[in-house]
This record gives sequence, structure tokens and C-alpha cells, in this order.
Amino acid sequence: MKKNDNTMFDKKDVGKKVELKGWVAKKRNLGGLLFIDLRDRSGIIQLVVKPEHKDYETASNLKSESVIRATGTIVERESKNPKLKTGEIEVIVEELEVYSMANDLPFEITEDTTALEDTRLKYRYLDLRRNSLKEKIMQRSRLMHIIRNFFYEEGFVEVETPVLCKSTPEGARDYLVPSRVNHGKFYALPQSPQIFKQLLMVGGMEKYFQIAKCFRDEDLRADRQPEFTQVDLEMSFVEEEDVMDTTERLLAKVWKEMKGVDLKLPLPKIKYDDAIRLYGSDKPDLRFGMEILSLNSIFQKTEFTVFQNVLKEKGEISAIVARNCADHYSRKEIDKLTEYVKTYRASGLAWLKYTEHDFSGSIRKVVTDEELEQIKKECAIEENDILFIVADKYEVAKTSLGALRTKLGKELGLIDKENDKLLWVVDFPSFEWSEEENRFVACHHPFTAPKEEDIDKLLTDKAHCYSKAYDIVINGYEAGGGSIRIHRADVQAKMFESLGFTPEQAKEKFGFFLEAFQYGTPPHGGLALGLDRLTMLLTGTDNIRDVIAFPKTASASCLMSECPNQVEEKQLKELGIQLRGKEE
Ligand code: AMO
Repeated sequence: MKKNDNTMFDKKDVGKKVELKGWVAKKRNLGGLLFIDLRDRSGIIQLVVKPEHKDYETASNLKSESVIRATGTIVERESKNPKLKTGEIEVIVEELEVYSMANDLPFEITEDTTALEDTRLKYRYLDLRRNSLKEKIMQRSRLMHIIRNFFYEEGFVEVETPVLCKSTPEGARDYLVPSRVNHGKFYALPQSPQIFKQLLMVGGMEKYFQIAKCFRDEDLRADRQPEFTQVDLEMSFVEEEDVMDTTERLLAKVWKEMKGVDLKLPLPKIKYDDAIRLYGSDKPDLRFGMEILSLNSIFQKTEFTVFQNVLKEKGEISAIVARNCADHYSRKEIDKLTEYVKTYRASGLAWLKYTEHDFSGSIRKVVTDEELEQIKKECAIEENDILFIVADKYEVAKTSLGALRTKLGKELGLIDKENDKLLWVVDFPSFEWSEEENRFVACHHPFTAPKEEDIDKLLTDKAHCYSKAYDIVINGYEAGGGSIRIHRADVQAKMFESLGFTPEQAKEKFGFFLEAFQYGTPPHGGLALGLDRLTMLLTGTDNIRDVIAFPKTASASCLMSECPNQVEEKQLKELGIQLRGKEE
């Protein structure tokens, strides 16, 4: 059955007889005439029911959000509404049919709703009727369409990979599924299709893509969900540049078709080490400047013991300058910023203001005039600038100032929201130090190829091994990541060894994978984009739940269907599972 979109009609249709279906968004009675805003997916059109109409009574009693069918004739409106696409016309109702009468609603369906998010999540199907949310979900659908078209045009094969998998280490905790048939054994839900997409390359598929559901049991943030969607791709016989080129062209098509924006390709690249040095982050937001400056050379001969000690320990004294806003920052404000950097492990936040041609601030007394002169010159300090300084271990100084930079960028309105900034972060280290485990762990996953020149260092100098990994960063979000993979069995074995797996453990965990690599493996590489994050960026929201039709809360539950929930004793019995209470 064909249904007309409300918004397909306008002034040129005056006099036409039409049939419309939708929800009663609003109802007004003006001098006996009953006006109904009828809403469907496309938008709103105004219906008019005259007092002499046989169904006038029924129409008057319609509750908001009831679903109706109406036929009638389009006429030109007397008082036009320029905000509506159909604002110049209305429909004089002839037939009226009520498909379903709605009950009183838990909240009103309006754009400026004051309903709490929890209420809206519980009644998600109602919230989806709000235009702004509906529009984001429709944008997501458009995005998936563009992505699929791109990959098909480029000769990629769409392959679905299993959801019941073997648990493999990818960094986050697995969601486990008990097997009834194989008593005492478990499947894991995939954290990503990583192993399968590589096996598809071994299987000769050459160019694969998938819009894949992934599951990670990790602490949730505004840009993380326990189940999320990746645009996953893998290619054979490629190097880093090829994967990056394909991804860039995909993103250029997306930006062109969804935003009408021409991205300038190739996208800029920044090395991981430089990203940390200049922005204190491996996902820098380049929509504003405020680069981190190193003050180490200025303080080489400092008398200030705190700085002396940091430099002696090969630490870092770094600073950011907030321009022309020293007068914004009272002691109280600065105390708050100090607390903020402390959450990033910084031991403190020093500051210097430059006002009326003079410096003042927390370290004014311990810094010499000569040093201040150098700071002024090297940091291009001008009237009313304020410098925030962290002296600490290199990584702590950089990341805490990086976080402060992002915070100030937002608070001071420095971000150019009109121009998206896409860039690659390349040359990641192969390993990162885990304070928790007190050892080096894989920076990406264990299948990431090291740079050729670093293969020999895998076992002897982990701190200086770099990998063929790359992340695509958009407006300060990690929108995707990937790498060239290890395709040589000897290098893979060495990688496992350097990650602390014994050959037996490697065989136990990845035996099938390693075996596959013995029967002819093409060099290959790939990447995965976070579809949810991409949709967030394209629709201008910073809440990942806004772009997922049925999302989970921060505690990984669905308020609508009330999952996760308890299961029946019988089900547990079948699985041979007995609950034993939570261990701390
Ligand atoms: P990675 O773990 O970097 O790479 O994931 C790829 C992208 O997926 C998105 N993402 C998430 N989005 C929402 N919620 C989450 N919990 C979440 N976790 C990740 C991010 C991220 O950049 N197998 C590799 C890819 C590869 O090497 O080809 C992988 O999964 O945008």
C-alpha cells in the first residue's frame, strides 16, 4: 500500500484531493474550527475539521499521538507558517478514520522536551518520533548507504563473520555466551572481526568489507557503547598508503554527499610522537591551535628545585598559553583547573599571567627575569595572556596539558565548528607500558606489523619499536584505526614472545590462526571506522546514544526492554551454570 508523504504537497497542489496518514502531533480549536498537525516521518501538514463535519466530535476527542487516516482537499492557508515545508497549505478533512487512539503519554513529543534522558530511553519508540532524534537515525541510514555504495564500486566483497566466536585478546573484556551443547565451554562475542578478516585474506578474498557489530565489556563513556558498529575493511597486497588512500576517498565521498563539503586529500598526517609532544593526545583536535610548548631549555639552569628535580629525572616542563584571557582566571578558577589536571596524574599546575607589561603568578618569585624574558619571546607572550605549566614525567606533563588544552578550547570558544579537521596519526609505538600489569602490552593488537627496521628490536628494545598502525582522527575523536598486519609466521611468533606468550600459550589461543598463516599468506592490512562515532561527527552530537536507535545506558543496560535480566533456573540448569555471587 502506497502512502503519501505529508511534505510532498505544497501550493501547486491546491485543489487536489489527498489521502494522508500519521500521528496527531497537535490539536487546536479556533472559533469552532479544529486544526490538527498531522505528523509522519517526512514532517507536518495541517488538517482542518469544520464544526459541521460528521466526525467533528471524534476529531475533537483525539488524543495526542493517536494515529489517523484523513482524506480531504488541499487549500491555501490564510495565515501561513514559513517554518513548515507545508506552511502555505492545509487540508479540509472529508473522511476521518482513527487507526489507534493513544493513551496519555509519559512525556510530550516536542523538540524542546524537558523529559529526563532515562524516561526517554525507557520509551525510546516515543523519543524516536522527535524530529531531531529521528533525523540522526535517518542520517545514519544515509551514511550506511553511501559506505556500501563506495565499497561495491571499488570491488570490495561484503562478508559477514560469526558473532559466536572464540575469546581472543583485543584489549577489552569479552562478553561471554555459555554453550549448552558443549557443556562448560563458552563463546565470546567479537570485539571486532579482526581474526576473521585476516583469515578472509588468507582465503583469497583480497578486498573485504563489512558493517559489523562489535561487543566490548568496558567502562562506558560519552563516545562508547558496549555494542557498537564498525565499518570494517581489509585488503591484500597493500601497504599503509593504500589503506589510508581508500579510507580517505571513502570519507571524502561521505563528507561530499552528506555535508556538501570537499575534503582536501591527501589528509594531513602527524606522527604519534609529535601528536603527544604538541597536543598531549593521540587524537588531537586541530580545530584550534594552542600547541603545547616545551620550556625545558629555558629552565636548564633554574634555581627552582621542583623544576630542577624534574629535569634531573629527565622529565618535562611544558606549557600552554591561553591568549588574551588572563583576566578570566581568578585564583578560584585556576584552583579548579589545578584539580582538573590532577585527575590526569599531574602533581600540580603552575601559572603566569602577563598584564600591564609584567608577569605575576604562582611561580613568579622562583623564575628569574632572564627566564621570564625568554618565556615571553619563545611563547610569543602578549598583554593579558596566561601560561599554564606542568612539570612532571614527560607523558604526564603532555597528557595533562593536552586534556587542559581540550577543556580550554571548548570553554574559551576557540573551536572552529564550521570546519571539520580530519587527520591521520601514524607511526604508533608497537608497545605501551602498562602500569597496572607492570609490563609492555600491545599498543594496538598483536597482529600489527612492526616497521621493518624495528623487527630486530622486538625482544630487546620494546620502548623504541614502532608499528605500521594508523588512526584516523576527526575533531578530536578517534574515528577509526588500523594497520598493516604481520603476514610472516616467524615475525608473528616473535611478536607473541615479546608480549609474554609462551609458544604453548600462543598455540592455545591462536593456534588455528597461526596455522592458517603457514599455507600461503598475502601481505595485507586494513582498518575499522567507528560507524557510531562517524555518525556523531556528521550529525553534530557528542552523545553516542543519539545516533543509536536502541542504545544502552552508561551501566550497559537497556531501560526499555530491561536487559540484562535474570533468567530462569531451568535455563541455567541446562547450561550447567550455578550463580555464585559477585567476587570483588
Ligand atoms: P579499534 O579497537 O581501534 O580497532 O576500533 C575501531 C574503531 O571503532 C570505534 N570503537 C568504538 N565505538 C563505540 N563504542 C566503543 N566501545 C568502541 N570501541 C571502538 C572507534 C575505533 O577507532 N580490529 C581493529 C581494527 C583494525 O585493525 O582493522 C579494531 O577494532 O571509532
